[in-house]
Amino acid sequence: MGVALLAAGPRLISLLTRPFIPKAIFEPSSVGSIGRVSDFGVGMHTQFLQERRICVVRNSERLYVIYARCTHQGCTPDWVAQERKFKCPCHESGFCMGSTFDGDGMNCEGPAPRPLDRAHIALDPSGQVIVDISRLW
Ligand code: FES
Repeated sequence: MGVALLAAGPRLISLLTRPFIPKAIFEPSSVGSIGRVSDFGVGMHTQFLQERRICVVRNSERLYVIYARCTHQGCTPDWVAQERKFKCPCHESGFCMGSTFDGDGMNCEGPAPRPLDRAHIALDPSGQVIVDISRLW
């Protein structure tokens, strides 16, 4: 019997054991630390764009976090540093370009109906910047 199961392959074993394995979706937490304010010089910081879909912007007055989800249909725009724009790779055709957003997240071109959202941030007692992407504004 055991040999027969092994011979049937991993697909059959998977089908037989599936009812006993809980169905769970493992999503990353919507809240996380990005470091201290002093870790960010003036400018756009994209090191979290691929993993967490956020960009940190610091100017002379403040620090804020842009949530990089295109407001057209939700693709992740790329930051194009040479043009200082976010460019959405989706919905580009011969006549229309994908949406673009400036460094503040304001929509400039394309079908996006509004600016990129910003994520809620707070400082924890140790001085870490905590970003919560479940609280967008
Ligand atoms: S999702 Fe970005 S242009 Fe459509």
